This record gives sequence, structure tokens and C-alpha cells, in this order.
Amino acid sequence: MNVVDTIIKKRDGKELTAAEINDFIRGYTDGRIPDYQASAFLMAVLCRGMTDRETADLTMAIAHSGEIISLTGIVDTAVDKHSTGGVGDKTTLIVQPIVTACGVPVAKMSGRGLGFSGGTIDKLESVPNIKLDLSKEAFLAQLKRYHTVLSGQSADLAPADGMLYALRDVTGTVPALPLIASSIMSKKIAAGTQTILLDVKVGVGAFMDTIEKARHLAEVMVAIGDHVGRKVYAELTDMNQPLGSAVGNILEVKEVIAFLKGEPVPADIYEHCVESSAILLEMAGAAKDRNDAENQVKKALASGAAFESLKKLVEVQGGDSAYLDHPEKFPRAPIVREVLADRGGYVHEINARTVGETSVSLDAGRVKKSDSIDHRVGILVHQKVGDFVEKGAPLFTIHANSEEKFNRAVTNLLSAVRIEAEKCEPLPQFYGLVTGANEKA
Ligand code: URA
Repeated sequence: MNVVDTIIKKRDGKELTAAEINDFIRGYTDGRIPDYQASAFLMAVLCRGMTDRETADLTMAIAHSGEIISLTGIVDTAVDKHSTGGVGDKTTLIVQPIVTACGVPVAKMSGRGLGFSGGTIDKLESVPNIKLDLSKEAFLAQLKRYHTVLSGQSADLAPADGMLYALRDVTGTVPALPLIASSIMSKKIAAGTQTILLDVKVGVGAFMDTIEKARHLAEVMVAIGDHVGRKVYAELTDMNQPLGSAVGNILEVKEVIAFLKGEPVPADIYEHCVESSAILLEMAGAAKDRNDAENQVKKALASGAAFESLKKLVEVQGGDSAYLDHPEKFPRAPIVREVLADRGGYVHEINARTVGETSVSLDAGRVKKSDSIDHRVGILVHQKVGDFVEKGAPLFTIHANSEEKFNRAVTNLLSAVRIEAEKCEPLPQFYGLVTGANEKA
């Protein structure tokens, strides 16, 4: 079928066949379908949606745009975790080394920043020389030898996702449920892991703004996992305010290092990472129960084993791990200044989306597909919803590369915060866990 007919069919809200979806993905991957037609297709999907069957077919087509890895003979079991995207969400870089340090191999395929949300690959590229586009052979060899590997899409693995991901980022087509589900699950299927924890973010700083939509996304992805025999759980977690303190690439890597070295970090990121790591250990059968899993996680943190595991990951992928031992070596943005509270009271809101968009406007993320990012810039968020702040207390520290961008960021960030005289409860962190049928996969 002609691609224009496929676009028109979806534009008119009709259901595509598996063959039409496959043709589209194959044509885009091999360069016969240009970006402008792919953009129109993505926009049609965003506006018209897809049935769960179409979403599953899209997922398999994207997964099969490259090779599908089999981990048989490489490791007995390997786990993976993947977030739907949030602001300040550096959990992969914390959970992966913790879980590896607890003896469970992790094979992780990650993405770049998307819209206002950051991406693990962009963050980890803050470390000089690190290689994050591994071939299938390199991915497997590293997993076998070191039990930890982290890569972005390459020409071998889910290449269509790499191309569509970059296009969605700059065409306003990120928050479509079928596109998010297929993007995430195609990578998971291609990377071959049997046990997968999905972190489905909910709130103003997530692509799903209500618990109902997030639960639907979680259920669709878990069902795709069931269909291909993977054990998939999806936790629903809050993304109304930024997670942790740092937003922006080097700043987030520094927060990861602080966390793994046992330095103080905000309670939300600590609890989130301990919980996610514990769920993964339990899913992998490496813990008797959640309590045992949490104890193992805390031990791996306290002994420094989790930090050593991150260092090992960085080293074997060519990165300069001296930056992890000495984070002060990371370059610093030329302008680093605080934004102070213009009134005292209780923090009712720190709008994660506005913070994420402000971080992109500072150059921590991309507006156009070809944009390069400035790893130095970003925002430190000093308060959480429910905190009491005095007038004049620091709300944010902005790391900027120009006065103009700094000034714009101040205005935006002040509009992200609401401080009132009345008390306010802290935000919940978890809204539930969706589990699949393959409990024994
Ligand atoms: N993570 C992905 O890999 N893809 C998305 O679409 C969103 C988050």
C-alpha cells in the first residue's frame, strides 16, 4: 500500500492492518519514506489513536526493524527497567548499578531526552568518552562478562525506534499512548530481557496526566509483554513535581553519584530507587520477599558495591570513571545563580512540566532534531511540595550558558511555584503496580 494511503487511513480514524504498519516501519527504516511523511503518520496516530491490536503490531514491527537479541547462553536471567519519561528522572542510573551489585544482571536499552523529559543516554553522555551505541555483539559480550550493559538504539537494535523517537521529539507527537507503548516495548523485546519493570509516570510532568491514562498505558505494555512471553510489571509513580533535586544532564549524573556514595539526596528519589530496585530483585527471584529485597538494596548502597558497579559500567563502555570519583571535574555552566522565594509559606506546587521545559530552554534538551545539547546546564530544585519556606529561601539554582537564557528561566521557574499560607500535604509517590500473566517467565 502507498504510504499516503496509510496516512490518510489513519488520519480518517480507521484501523490499520499489520501489513500496512509493517510496510510503514520498513519504508521509514530503509529511507524510502521521508521524515515529512513519517511526521504526518505520527500526527495521525496522535490525533486518532490506535487499537490495542494496532499498538501491538506497531511494537513488533519496530522491534523487528533490527535484530532481536536472545540471551540464551549469555546469562541465566537478566532484568531491565524503563521509565515512560519524567523530569529529573535519573532512576535508571541508580537502579541499574544497585540491582547488578545485588547479583542480578541488567541489560538496558535506553533513549534520549524527549520533549520536556530527559533521557538516560543524554545524561550518561555527560561522562567523557563513554560509548552508548553498542552493536548487538558488543551488547551481549559485555552482558556476559560484566552482567551490566546500557546502550541506546543502534543500527542493529530497534533502529526504527531511534528514528521515530527523534522525530516525535520535534513534531509534537510524543504524548501518544500507542507511540510510547511501542517505543518502549520494542526496545525491551529487541534487548531480549525476560523480566522488565516499567515506571509509568503520572502527572503534569509526565506524558500521561491522569492515573486512568497511565494505568491504560501500563496495561497495554504489560499485555504486549505477556504476548511475547516476558514478565512485565508496571509501577505508576508521581511526576507532578521533579524527582529528586537535579534536572539537566551533568547535574543529574552528579545527583546519581551522590546517591550511590551515600550522600544526602531528597527522600523521594531515595524511596523511589530503593522500591524499584527491590521490585526488580523480587521479580528476578533473587529475594524471598520485598523486605529481603530492600535489605539487599540498602546493603549494596552502604557497602559501596552499587557505586562500584556504576563505575564498572562506565569503564567498560569506555567512559572516564575519574569523573565519578571526582565529580568536581565535570565542566560547570558559566552562570550559576539562585532563585529565591518572593514570599514565605507552604509549597503547594512545583510544576514539573514547567521545570522540564525551562531546562530544555536552557539547552539541556532539544527543540529541533539536529540540536546539540549543553550538558552543563539545568536546574537544582531545592524544595518539595508540602515544605515550608521562608521568604528569601532558595527555591532553585539555575545553571545557564547565557544571561538571556538565565533571565528567561527565572521568570519561568517562578511561574512554576505556588506558595500559600495554608499547610499542604506532600505528594504521594506511588499509585499502584500493574502485573501481567507471566509471573513465572
Ligand atoms: N521512553 C521511550 O523509550 N519511549 C517513549 O516514547 C517514552 C519514554
